[in-house]
Amino acid sequence: RAVYDGDIASVLISEQQINDKVTELAKQIDEDYGHLQGGDLVLVGVLKGAVMVMTDLARALPSPAQLEFMAVSSYGSSTSSSGVVRILKDLDRDIAGKHVLVVEDIIDSGLTLSWLLKNLAARGPASLEVCTLLRKPDAVQVEVPVRYVGFDIPNEFVVGYGLDFAERYRDLPYIGSLDPKVYTSGV
Ligand code: PRP
Ligand code: MN
Ligand code: MG
Repeated sequence: RAVYDGDIASVLISEQQINDKVTELAKQIDEDYGHLQGGDLVLVGVLKGAVMVMTDLARALPSPAQLEFMAVSSYGSSTSSSGVVRILKDLDRDIAGKHVLVVEDIIDSGLTLSWLLKNLAARGPASLEVCTLLRKPDAVQVEVPVRYVGFDIPNEFVVGYGLDFAERYRDLPYIGSLDPKVYTSGV
């Protein structure tokens, strides 16, 4: 995607590094859930950001998993969390009694996830855990238990592999830091 090249200051995590990490996460998840009786693991991907990690993780998992999606939004087009979470699309199925693993691309402030976990816990799943590919330092400010973390990253604005800025860059196969010139206002 040469058209984006000038917008990406540096590659933070390469396609290969993502691939290796997702394989490793899938192995850990399989160790914890692979032996479970009484139904498949239910992966809940948080649209749109988690779409890439969700599909790669599901394919890397040796054990069966069902794919469900929710869409919530906290960012809009800005670069920081507003704390306002909206459900844009709810789950299609009941998760009562199911083992649920929420799949996220990134935990930044943790506001989206803390809200989502409360919402999902109220539906009575057998278990509820979180897998995130990326986590930023600010995430520690909100108490959110995250069982599987791919990478702890610095507090930069990152895009690619599902992560957007104003809906762009999700289609990059790697994770890069966005050049501040892209989101700095004024000309
Ligand atoms: C982003 C990201 C996480 C959330 C993290 O989603 O994909 O879901 O923000 O931020 P937080 O920890 O500060 O709440 P966004 O709301 O931008 O929607 P999107 O996934 O459709 O891009
Ligand atoms: Mn998201
Ligand atoms: Mg976003």
